Amino acid sequence: MPNMNPVKNIHNAASWRTKKIVQVPDYPDVQKLHHAESVLQKLPPLVFAGEVRQLKKSLGDVCNRKAFLLQGGDCAESFRDFSANQIRDTFKILLQMALVLTYGAGLPVVKVGRMAGQFAKPRSSDTETKDGVTLPSYRGDIINGYEFTSESRIPNPDNMVAAYHQSAATLNLIRAFAHGGFADLHQLHQWNIDFVTASESGEKYRQFADNIKKTLDFMQACGITSDNVPQIKEVEFYTSHEALLLWYEQALTRADSLTASQDYAGDSVCTSAHMLWIGDRTRQLDGAHIEFCSQVINPIGMKCGPSLEADDLIRLIDKINPDNEAGRMTLIARFGANKIQDYLPKLIQKIQSEGRNVVWSCDPMHGNVESTPSGYKTRNFDNILSEVKQFFDIHQSLGSYAGGVHFEMTGKNVTECIGGGINHIHPDNLTDNYETLCDPRLNGGQALELAFLLSKILKK
Ligand code: PEP
Ligand code: CO
Repeated sequence: MPNMNPVKNIHNAASWRTKKIVQVPDYPDVQKLHHAESVLQKLPPLVFAGEVRQLKKSLGDVCNRKAFLLQGGDCAESFRDFSANQIRDTFKILLQMALVLTYGAGLPVVKVGRMAGQFAKPRSSDTETKDGVTLPSYRGDIINGYEFTSESRIPNPDNMVAAYHQSAATLNLIRAFAHGGFADLHQLHQWNIDFVTASESGEKYRQFADNIKKTLDFMQACGITSDNVPQIKEVEFYTSHEALLLWYEQALTRADSLTASQDYAGDSVCTSAHMLWIGDRTRQLDGAHIEFCSQVINPIGMKCGPSLEADDLIRLIDKINPDNEAGRMTLIARFGANKIQDYLPKLIQKIQSEGRNVVWSCDPMHGNVESTPSGYKTRNFDNILSEVKQFFDIHQSLGSYAGGVHFEMTGKNVTECIGGGINHIHPDNLTDNYETLCDPRLNGGQALELAFLLSKILKK
């Protein structure tokens, strides 16, 4: 007997459309928007349901104190800065950081890039004024152009298709690096980047790599090689971005055929990235972004800033993770070095008293933005480090697990954040190589130095 029941889907990837939405563009050409959506709907998924489940399982291990999360990459990827070297160098630094942290924590490190899809940006103001001219703000290359002209700032739906193709090419390279020999532990000296090699953290890394190499040689002598232990020759590397532009996210959401049955259409998986997060400005309980994320099975991160009340946090978790599944929800604290003491402890205590399974991660970037007198947006390395230290101290004092970190960083030799070690960046040098289209990033040397400092904290 054929099944006469209509196929059900407990998820509804379109339900966000009935909710209030903030921080997205008002597309002037609706026909063009529909066209871009229909193009995206026909394109292949970027990631697969099985990988998404695997990441959720690994984040479940973080939740259960058996692993540590490292998430990092650009504030915003751009069409302009798209090159194999750029992807390779950020990937290299993330591998180096992960290795240093694995050593410090004595635990596996779950590696998640802000890569292959991190294009859309929430903005504090809808408009930008320069020399008396006011235009719509730049919202990331997936939405409009950075150039300060009225033409370039018009939101263009075709940019979503361009961002998809750039993400596909980026992910292709990442997959090749992760599984094609580049990430083999025996290559760990090659992960050092030229300009970092000459720095203090580069030298520290070289010594660190020498020691690991000795261990590898010893293991090899004992018969443990990359031939019989695949973890030595490849890494699992996942992608993530802020789920801001919901037309794009919905168009890439697919029903998982593995979980489909005769009367059930299958889980909805957002295939634009393995993990999605909700920004601090878009986490309204009844808003579109929370609604969308509640409908897909991906691991979900949520930024937690000073405006988040403990009761609301529980309501948000109820909506996104009603089954209290470990690995589904990562809370990304981003309060700022001078605010974290006032805000984080009560949220942790609430999570503990309500018995919620969450990964706690620290984003020491977004609460520590400052402007120089000449108008450059920057962050001070000392404040970043201070917030990370306080995050770990607070968790320890409350008996909670500080499970991860979230950085804006690049492998490039940029001068965007001030401070950091012997090769520190002085405020006067910010202009040397200030390239970001959005927030200031740690350069390769600063990121690696932070990993060494963090590794010390983790060892404790
Ligand atoms: C970001 O991560 O780039 C971002 C905008 O963060 P937040 O939502 O925490 O401000
Ligand atoms: Co940012």
